[in-house]
Amino acid sequence: VEIVVGVSGASGARLGTRFLELAASCSALDRIHLTLSDAALRVARNELPGRIPNAAAYVRALCLSSAARRRIALYEDGEVEAPIASGSYPVAGMIVIPCSAGTLGAIANGISRGLLQRAADVALKERRPLVLAFRESPYSLVHIENMRKVSAAGAIIAPPIPAFYAGPLSLEQMIDIYCARSARYLGLKLAADYTWTGPQRQ
Ligand SMILES: Cc1cc2nc3c(=O)[nH]c(=O)nc-3n(C[C@H](O)[C@H](O)[C@H](O)COP(=O)(O)O)c2cc1C
Repeated sequence: VEIVVGVSGASGARLGTRFLELAASCSALDRIHLTLSDAALRVARNELPGRIPNAAAYVRALCLSSAARRRIALYEDGEVEAPIASGSYPVAGMIVIPCSAGTLGAIANGISRGLLQRAADVALKERRPLVLAFRESPYSLVHIENMRKVSAAGAIIAPPIPAFYAGPLSLEQMIDIYCARSARYLGLKLAADYTWTGPQRQ
């Protein structure tokens, strides 16, 4: 199984790094095609520990075994000749995590500037799952209209809203549950997955 992961410049850089750590550690997955927007790196510098001068450093900072790290193929956003820019290259689906309002708008309107947006456009045209971890609050009507458009085109808007019903958990645990839940839409079962089985009886 191969998937595409796009990281854009919304807040929530940890969502992207944690998704990559969990997905790359999943033995059912052969390859993660990863691309980051310029803004994603700027936000990562603001929100993540350590020095992240470029995308390669972002990948190096992930907590991964060497086997898991080898599953990640990193592309620059300008690399529009990458395999994932073509519908002829088979992938199971794509997630944009986190997804900024700008990237949502670009995808909703087929702008395809850069590899991340093009790969998302390909997912829609090939009718493959496209999950958008859209992080913004509050929503303007522009955001709502763009969400409506991409949803009509087949995308799944999955805002990173905590699964409060999972119990009193840490932010890291909430992020894990969110990542696993989103991965389900790409056909992946991650270790951190949580299923509600009804209320706990006293
Ligand atoms: C620290 C920081 C946090 C940001 N948080 C958000 C956010 O949560 N949602 C959003 O839509 N944009 C956010 N932005 C703005 C985007 O980074 C900006 O609009 C950028 O142009 C998006 O580009 P991209 O979609 O190509 O990644 C943030 C920017 C910074 C620097």
